[in-house]
Amino acid sequence: MSDSMDPVRIGILGMGTVGQGTVRVLARNAEEITRRVGRDLRVVHAAVRNPARLEALDLQARISTDPWAVVRDPEVDVLVEVMGGTGLARELILAAIAAGKHVVTANKALLAEHGNEIFAAAQQQGVMVAFEAAVAGAIPIIKAIREGLAGNRIQWLAGIINGTSNYILTQMFREGWDFQQALTEAQRLGYAEADPGLDVDGGDAAHKITLMASIAFGIPVDFAHCHVEGIRALERDDVVYAAELGYRIKLLGISRRRADGVELRVHPTLIPESHLLANVEGPFNAILVESDAAGQSLYYGRGAGGDPTASAVVADLVDVARTMTADPSNRVPHLAFQPDALSALPLLPMAEVESAYYLRIHAHNRAGVLAQVATMLAEHQISIEALLQKESPEADTVPIVLLLHRCREGDLEQAIRRIEALPVVARPVLRLRVESLAEQ
Ligand code: NDP
Ligand code: HSE
Repeated sequence: MSDSMDPVRIGILGMGTVGQGTVRVLARNAEEITRRVGRDLRVVHAAVRNPARLEALDLQARISTDPWAVVRDPEVDVLVEVMGGTGLARELILAAIAAGKHVVTANKALLAEHGNEIFAAAQQQGVMVAFEAAVAGAIPIIKAIREGLAGNRIQWLAGIINGTSNYILTQMFREGWDFQQALTEAQRLGYAEADPGLDVDGGDAAHKITLMASIAFGIPVDFAHCHVEGIRALERDDVVYAAELGYRIKLLGISRRRADGVELRVHPTLIPESHLLANVEGPFNAILVESDAAGQSLYYGRGAGGDPTASAVVADLVDVARTMTADPSNRVPHLAFQPDALSALPLLPMAEVESAYYLRIHAHNRAGVLAQVATMLAEHQISIEALLQKESPEADTVPIVLLLHRCREGDLEQAIRRIEALPVVARPVLRLRVESLAEQ
């Protein structure tokens, strides 16, 4: 390990969008960063599959195609993992921790699935695993929740935390693009994951809300119990109908503490068009946090891309460099609460969640359909707040759009199964949740 005034020596795994962004930001702001840390931050070794990618970068460091060479390099004090994946990346990080190296990672999938194991190993070795870049790109939301709100009891958080799906929904609404056109452009702009299914099917947002819930409520990381729905089932018509009713559709990650447990969910959600979150557009992210002392606080910024994500990686490197010499027991805990003080609050099933709802029902154009649907909902104690019926004399089916008052999701699911069984109902019912996100 180096002397306290020597440069902090960094090894980087992965030199793609985030890795190259990190090298650029470290170089561009080197003087400013050294003034803040009191030491230089120097990249000494980087791993990439295809070194030709680095020709345009003026990187004065050893380059390897084998990531193990970086992890095993005794010259490396801090490992930055920005290659992605949950298999090899997990092995490399655990090996680095075992070798006494601090770790900075942007890999939300890895931490959501293996965070408990990785944080426990780091705790045992007295090293840090910093992950600001894993959630909401440039927005310092981990630091805000873990440190800035440390005096609060957090009640809930709700966020637009996937830039790709927010970009797609924005382009569908603003430009009338279809889903595939918007996704292709999001990929071209570097917002999407290597597997864009993680973005549009909600997995990426689920990884992020899982991590935020852990640090907000002091619970172990439990991705397996996160409820996940993406935006693939949405049609442009839904965006238009929601607008007619005064709402925007956003893919939200939501986690709420209740007396009997914690809700943890990702799904497309209607939110009032006047709400600040409804106006977060394109690749931007925003997270709304409600806590007892601060009330509501909102965190907004760029959620994806090279430089924005590098901003968070470099902030973590600065934090790590500053605390390298501090007693490990006096550092900020990985999950915000002391490891032996994590709560055993259970994650709640979706049937127990209460929300208002939007339903799109495609029915054959016959008299009395609406009355049948309303009766079935009423039999489950569910009442209708608003209705849109699109008349189309030439079409065989017509969409009926309903806004429902708050009810228990388990009750609504039973009503939907009965509605779908009606001979006049032509397609599966689309069910979206509606949240007011009001201060409570
Ligand atoms: P990229 O695909 O752009 O880059 C991945 C890099 O890792 C590439 O340089 C690739 O090498 C390298 N790599 C992958 N596997 C290996 C291996 N086995 N050995 C050596 N090098 C390897 O990904 P991103 O930079 O976009 O994302 C990296 C991580 O950051 C992911 O975990 C992602 O979820 C996360 N993240 C990304 C954000 C973004 O906006 N892009 C935002 C926040 C987090 P090669 O180039 O030769 O293929
Ligand atoms: N694919 C992610 C997104 C990158 O679109 O938000 C940032 O985590």
